[in-house]
Order: sequence, then C-alpha cells, then structure tokens
Amino acid sequence: MHIEQFDPASDADRLKACYDIVAAGVPIDHPNLPPWPLESFTGKWTRSYDSAPMEAWLATDESGEPAGCYLLRLPDKENVTRARVILEVPPVRRRTGIGSQLLAHCADRARQEGRTHLSADARDGSAGAGFGEAVGAIAGIPEVNRILDIDDAPPARLAELRAEAEQKAVGYSLLSWPGPTPKEHLDQVAELNNAIEDAPHNEGVQPTRWDAQRITEMEQHSIAYGISLLTVAARNDATGELAALTQIGIDRGTPGWGFQFLTAVLAAHRGYRLGLLVKVANLEQLASADPSVRRILTGNAGANRYMIAINELIGFHVSDIYRSWELDLTALSR
Ligand SMILES: CC(C)(COP(=O)(O)OP(=O)(O)OC[C@H]1O[C@@H](n2cnc3c(N)ncnc32)[C@H](O)[C@@H]1OP(=O)(O)O)[C@@H](O)C(=O)NCCC(=O)NCCS
Repeated sequence: MHIEQFDPASDADRLKACYDIVAAGVPIDHPNLPPWPLESFTGKWTRSYDSAPMEAWLATDESGEPAGCYLLRLPDKENVTRARVILEVPPVRRRTGIGSQLLAHCADRARQEGRTHLSADARDGSAGAGFGEAVGAIAGIPEVNRILDIDDAPPARLAELRAEAEQKAVGYSLLSWPGPTPKEHLDQVAELNNAIEDAPHNEGVQPTRWDAQRITEMEQHSIAYGISLLTVAARNDATGELAALTQIGIDRGTPGWGFQFLTAVLAAHRGYRLGLLVKVANLEQLASADPSVRRILTGNAGANRYMIAINELIGFHVSDIYRSWELDLTALSR
C-alpha cells in the first residue's frame, strides 16, 4: 500500500477520492445522519474551524485504487500535545488490516509533530468503536446526538414554550441577525463561546479560547463552503450585555436539515430560562426563513443536564451516542 500526502486545496482528484471513501461509509457509520455534501466536506478538509495545521493523506493499492485516507489535525493554540484524526477505509475493504496500517502511519506523523495523544470520534456500536477498542484507545465521555422532527414542535407548542420562558426572562430583549456576527457583537459572541467551557468535556482536553478574530475566521470559512447561519441572542436591558446566544447552521448541500451549533448562557445570567427562550425564538425564525428544514441535529455531552432538559422540552429525541477515542502515543509500540 502506498500512503501519500496531498494538498486538498489544489488536488481536487485526491480530495474527491477521500470524499468517495467517506461518503460510502456514511450510511453504515452514521445511519441517522444525512449524507455529507462535497462542498462542506471540502471546507472541512481544506481548513477546519480555525487555521490550525492539517495534513491529508490518501492510501492507494498496487493498482492505484484508493484504499483509505486520513485527515490529521494538529492544534496549535490549545491542546498542542494532542492530535485529532478522521481515518476512513471504504466499507468493501474493511477488516483487511488497512485501518491498522493507516493508523500506524498517522501515529508516526503525530509523534513527529510532538504529539503524545491522538483521538478520533466514533459512534457507539460502530466499526470505529470496535477498532478503537482493538487498538487500545480509551473511550471518552458520551456525546449524545438528538434530532428534532419539526412536526414535533409545531408553532402552538413553540408559542407555549416561549410564553413560559418569557415569564422568567424579565429584563432581557431578543435580537437576531442572519449570516455572520455583526462587528459590534463579535467580542461578546466570543465571550459566549467561551461560556461553554464549564460544559462536561473529556479530561485533559483544553477548551478553545475564542476571540473576535477566531469567530470571524470560523464564520467566514463556514459561509464560504455553503453554510448559512441563523442566530438569536438575548440582551440584558440594564447593561446592554449579550447574555445568551444560539445559532443554527444550514448547509445548502443537505436539504431538509438544520444543524444546531452553539447555545450558551453567560454564568451570571443562568436560571432565567434564557437558553429555552433563545432556542425557541430561533426555531420560530427558522420556520419563516427556511420552511424546507424538517429536522434539526444537536449534540450534547451526556452529563449536560440543563441543555438536555431544554432540548427534550422542545421535542428533540436521542438518535446516537458518539465519543472520542484517544490513543496514548507514548504507550503505543512502534
Ligand atoms: C475503523 C476503520 C478505520 C477500521 O478499518 P479496517 O481497515 O477495517 O481496520 P483493520 O482491518 O485494521 O481492523 C483492525 C482491528 O480492529 C477491530 N475492528 C475493526 N472493525 C471492527 C468492527 N466492525 N467491529 C469490531 N471490531 C472491529 C478488529 O479487532 C480488527 O482486527 P480483526 O479484523 O483481525 O478482528 C473502518 O471501519 C472505518 O473506516 N470506519 C469509519 C471511520 C471510523 O470510525 N474511523 C475511526 C474512528 S476511531
């Protein structure tokens, strides 16, 4: 097997070969998720949510046929001793040792870059979880995916929930904007992104420290690759401070789906039903902005009981459990 690095920004053929491998696995590896469109896949493989270095590698067999691939991400701001990977083998070629060879190659690359830990996400019960266990990786905390069927949250139900939330959320006003965060809100949106640092997360993994520039870069990159954003924030009337925020992403390559991005309430403003209020208001906004969206996907750490309670009240139901599997590269035999 031949494993070669390529530049996803300039090598469309190799990128497409990786896309075909990943896309073929989606119905098996992620049976409850929609297909991943080439456009946002390209966005993810050319640059993730920030400008941290990434490496794309494609494996081919003796006849030049694609046999597997991986995308290695080397964080350079937080978690500088860790690396993350998306590693994929086409379904028809699995259980022949290709995954193990790719992992050995990738682990070497990560070590050469000074990384002591390598992790990847996999759905409980999937081949990835079996592989993770077989190679001695340690499973992280459960990240529970939930899906809302829009028919389960009809306008009358949303109005009821909004009225319930508004009773407690006195002294706050809602505002919303389509597309990227307006300049004047960037610092506060960064602060709201940092407010989820206290949500349950895997031990030893540092949360991203957001600032205005990172928010701008992430949003511009997402928008360039086909994702539009719908946002609702709650502002404290007395101070003018943004106290809560929620954001839904719509990928133009995934018709019918919306993706719940951040929902956060600043610590000092918790307990006023702001999380529920902004989420309901964003669903109401979505119904008029894009009525073709019929399902919304969200994910929360299994222990994030406040956010989960809000999601269940709205009508989200559990679809899958994912976790990060982490390999200690210092313990791995070479
Ligand atoms: C995970 C994946 C890369 C494994 O690739 P692969 O080429 O089949 O891996 P290997 O043949 O080297 O398997 C090595 C060992 O992993 C374990 N394993 C692999 N697939 C498994 C499965 N479906 N169920 C249980 N164990 C499994 C087995 O112990 C296997 O050894 P064996 O075949 O001798 O029993 C592949 O299934 C895949 O692309 N999955 C989707 C993406 C993914 O989940 N990536 C990794 C995230 S951790």
